[in-house]
Amino acid sequence: GKTKGITFNFDEQLLGGCAIDKEGTPWPDKTLESCKAADSILMAAIGGPKWDGNPRELRPETGLLAMRQQLGLFANLRPAKAIPQLLDASSLKREVVEGVDIMVVRELCGDVYFGKPAGIYTDEAGVRWGQNNMIYSEPEIERIARVAMDVAQKRQGRCCSIDKANVLDVSQLWKDVVIRVHGECGQGVELSHMYVDNAAMQLVREPKQFDVMLTGNLFGDILSDTAAMLTGSIGMLPSASLNADSRGLYEPVHGSAPDIAGEGKANPLATILSAAMLLRYSLDAGAAADVIEAAVEQVLDTGLRTLDIASDPTDAVSTSAMGDAVVDAIVSLS
Ligand code: IPM
Ligand code: MG
Repeated sequence: GKTKGITFNFDEQLLGGCAIDKEGTPWPDKTLESCKAADSILMAAIGGPKWDGNPRELRPETGLLAMRQQLGLFANLRPAKAIPQLLDASSLKREVVEGVDIMVVRELCGDVYFGKPAGIYTDEAGVRWGQNNMIYSEPEIERIARVAMDVAQKRQGRCCSIDKANVLDVSQLWKDVVIRVHGECGQGVELSHMYVDNAAMQLVREPKQFDVMLTGNLFGDILSDTAAMLTGSIGMLPSASLNADSRGLYEPVHGSAPDIAGEGKANPLATILSAAMLLRYSLDAGAAADVIEAAVEQVLDTGLRTLDIASDPTDAVSTSAMGDAVVDAIVSLS
């Protein structure tokens, strides 16, 4: 803000585990009101073993899902771009990951995550059943397909739609609607289709074949974690979840890493890069976003590494040391 003359008004609110502890709900009304009033939302990761045994309505994840749905954040953009400085941190061979540049466009408000009926029940014979419903309406598919076409037009112009249409009716509808939307607004976009199991394999076999991957909620959840690993560390990846007005929620792709909580080992770069996405997509401050991204690159160039991306663990720096280094680089670049 100081270097670019932007004034930020921050309003900090609770979500997830801390909200359960302090307010008795993972998604307090105050938080919803504050999010609605804001131009954009920057969120840290949620979840932890402390709340794993809780009933579903008192789990941190329930707060996040309610937030996505109540704010209409249906378009989740998850870039996975190989970072040249980190190629050796990937578990895959350098020649496989070098040059990878994928954007997962994941639908975020529908699918088996929200489909009804859902629950655990016991039938007359005393057998317990767990059930969720994988369901999509045509409008839900259409709006995310439009986003994917738009994103593909701004990138390399290739969109691979992921489904399981060989088995699932919901996927057959998905595929039909994506084909229709492509015909209507996919000028210049080369559309292909792939079954999700094959896509999981292709992502680790030959990831460079992908530009935009268009997915439903569950398939995108799974494939975006795989795509993240191509870049070296899931600790590097930001994400944006946008609603129809391009207001957004920005969060790292990674989870809360409860196993290292409080130890100062976490990689802050995914969150810092999420702030850059926030500036670009919701606040129309692309120049400020450029500086943050350049600062992160510069810091990586100097060899600074948190534990998750360090080739020698004894060289790893702390979360705050990494954050300070990025701030210094922002100041020197401005
Ligand atoms: C993600 C996470 C969430 C999801 C969890 C925390 C509910 O895995 O953002 O990918 O499944 O969507
Ligand atoms: Mg996930």
